[in-house]
Amino acid sequence: MLKVGVLVSGGGTNLQAIIDKIEDKKITNAMISVVISNNANAYALERARKHNIEAICLSPKCYETRDQFNEALLTTLKKYEVDLVVLAGFLVIIPECVIHEYENKIINIHPSLIPSFCGTGYYGLKVHEAVLERGVKVTGATVHFVDTGTDTGPIILQKAVEVKEDDTSKTLQQRVMEEAEWNILPEAIHLIANNKISVIGNKVKKS
Ligand code: GRF
Repeated sequence: MLKVGVLVSGGGTNLQAIIDKIEDKKITNAMISVVISNNANAYALERARKHNIEAICLSPKCYETRDQFNEALLTTLKKYEVDLVVLAGFLVIIPECVIHEYENKIINIHPSLIPSFCGTGYYGLKVHEAVLERGVKVTGATVHFVDTGTDTGPIILQKAVEVKEDDTSKTLQQRVMEEAEWNILPEAIHLIANNKISVIGNKVKKS
């Protein structure tokens, strides 16, 4: 059974999609062992507690130095025996010590088709604003492994979403979540939990 640690900062709709798909057995061989947020008021923590999932706040603000926070994050992941770290809207930079310890065991959901509209500064609504500004007709979401770069790790799954003429950044964000993120993030966890994913160089092979 793959033990998943989900890291969140906000509302947690992606977390909810994972919880629902585990309960519906659309994700098999996986359980959430802990949900961690840097924000004590994140509704995501509430969502976890409603399903009797351990939910804790771990914020850089509560530590004197960044190193102490980094260490606490790693210690917490180990305490809950986390095999796979899922970044579901986590707005804190993952420390290198965690990335090295969890090589190809950290996945992130990004709300665009990487390599478009990604990298430093592209998060939240800013991604969708940039998509509308450029006038592309298709956007989407990407699940990828996390390496030391920003949105540069091996790509696991992508799903395209149509951009409509009357879209605002908010309507587009919502549609990208509904049509893409809530499907491909749980699917990636299911594939990993069932040993269907291998990483060769910077490419992911699905079997
Ligand atoms: C999503 O748009 C995700 O792509 C991004 O952060 C947002 C999280 O939303 N990384 P939620 O907290 O899962 O509702």
